[in-house]
Amino acid sequence: MQEDRTQQVDGPEAFVPGPILLLGAPGVGKGTQAQVLMEQWSIPQISTGDLIRDNIRLKTPIGIRFKELVDAGIFVPDDVVNQMVADRTAEPDCERGFILDGFPRTLGQAKWLDGHLTVRNGEAAALPLLAVSVQVRYDELLRRITGRRTGPVSKRIYNIYTNPPASPGVCDVDGEPLVQRPDDTEKVFSERMRVFGEQTAPVIDHYRGLGRFEEVNGEAPVEQVTENIVAALRRMRSK
Ligand code: AP5
Ligand code: MG
Repeated sequence: MQEDRTQQVDGPEAFVPGPILLLGAPGVGKGTQAQVLMEQWSIPQISTGDLIRDNIRLKTPIGIRFKELVDAGIFVPDDVVNQMVADRTAEPDCERGFILDGFPRTLGQAKWLDGHLTVRNGEAAALPLLAVSVQVRYDELLRRITGRRTGPVSKRIYNIYTNPPASPGVCDVDGEPLVQRPDDTEKVFSERMRVFGEQTAPVIDHYRGLGRFEEVNGEAPVEQVTENIVAALRRMRSK
């Protein structure tokens, strides 16, 4: 049966999203979709990749220690990212829910999250986690990754082929020069895919097994993928 699309765009009061996981390989569009949902539902996107890159950009002890690993497509140790997520989800803007983007991506992180996930207070405190896995073919992922550019401060995601900024090379939000992530080369992408298959595919199986899990086709225009994700989340929340 066709879903009623008029029900899908609503204000923050209409739907309490609760905690949401966006899972999937590098480049499936986790960050892009999280940014749309964040605006639509007024809940934060928590991207462990962005948090780690901020540490690298600001040359914090964590940034200095892990830059080489991240640039090579290797994961940061579980305890470091778990602590980042614990700190961030304790902030008051997470009380109606949050979107975890790129976390968990090892079974160790998933087990930690299952034991520690708390929306501390507020309306979403009693809601269980919902997981959506986005899927895109390898060749399309490679095209997306090599075409990606990012606003280093705003975190806005662009693509030179499919979603360019209004002025070439400059972020629409704050005018900062766009950057290409050091891990967005073909060579590092293939290493990231290898690590994804080895360490993150089992995480997807883990959430599939727990229920409250849906797969969504990510090979469609951004707006269509958003609709598919929103429909999946609504189905799961209404169960
Ligand atoms: P992270 O930053 O999380 O990278 P990733 O998982 O590899 O995912 P990406 O950010 O590359 O892709 P995305 O799915 O967000 O796609 P996007 O929306 O940008 O992690 C980077 C590194 O940090 C890791 O390798 C690791 O070292 C470390 N790290 C992070 N989290 C960690 C953790 N939990 N544990 C340990 N280490 C961790 O889209 C990609 C491109 O496609 C963009 O150009 C976009 O415009 C375009 N696009 C998006 N949707 C569409 C569409 N529908 N059609 C056409 N183009 C589209
Ligand atoms: Mg991302």
